[in-house]
Amino acid sequence: MTKITPHIIIEGSVKYELGKIQGNQIMYDFDKMLIYLNAKGKLLFGQKFKLYDDDRDILFKLCNYFIKDEANCRKLDIDIYKGILLTGPVGCGKTTLMKLLRHIVPHQRPYKMIPTRNIVFGFNHIGYKVIEDYGNDQFFCFDDLGVEPLGRHYGKDCNVMGEVLLSRHDLFLNSKEKTHATTNLNAQELEERYGNRVRSRMRELFNLVAFAKGSVDKRV
Ligand SMILES: Nc1ncnc2c1ncn2[C@@H]1O[C@H](COP(=O)(O)OP(=O)(O)OP(=O)(O)O)[C@@H](O)[C@H]1O
Ligand SMILES: [Mg+2]
Repeated sequence: MTKITPHIIIEGSVKYELGKIQGNQIMYDFDKMLIYLNAKGKLLFGQKFKLYDDDRDILFKLCNYFIKDEANCRKLDIDIYKGILLTGPVGCGKTTLMKLLRHIVPHQRPYKMIPTRNIVFGFNHIGYKVIEDYGNDQFFCFDDLGVEPLGRHYGKDCNVMGEVLLSRHDLFLNSKEKTHATTNLNAQELEERYGNRVRSRMRELFNLVAFAKGSVDKRV
């Protein structure tokens, strides 16, 4: 039988061990995960990528969530069965982190990152079938939730992402399909955008993980 070692990741000629096997469990080591994430970030996003000390708390939460460390997640008030709603100011690195973190768990089912604007453009072009397309058993991360335009197909307006979130919530209840998202909006703004029915379901669908309000814009 081959040993399953998802905590050992090879990038080019470098081997990263994110932890150790103990019994039939992987004991992940946070500092080793950070070393890997820093290196992988540079490979994905270029040499200027680096992990920021200020983001350590966020990284700790996300790492524990992705590796499904139940004890730490309980302490952090994170439910490993829900998805992640990563919020924070413009440019703080939400999209980047959601693209990066999935690489620490190559053995888990991947999620597709989809800009919400693209979903609306698809809707405007094709109509309600687009909403159905996201109500399937894949995992998604809806990027930049709340800033997409309203959908309009054959003269009919539609709050496309609101509808998509309702379908994802149904799926979550029936079969635990995961949905993640990134957003600049706070809870109140999300409610204004999608209404309280969607907002209430979002609480069930997502763990809220928030960057600090004053997080720097990494674009400048
Ligand atoms: N850790 C990092 N090190 C260096 N550059 C980074 C880092 N994180 C993000 N960046 C850069 O900063 C810019 C903004 O990052 P990103 O798009 O992830 O932010 P965001 O929070 O999703 O922004 P928005 O709210 O506009 O969607 C990008 O150009 C990205 O390459
Ligand atoms: Mg973004």
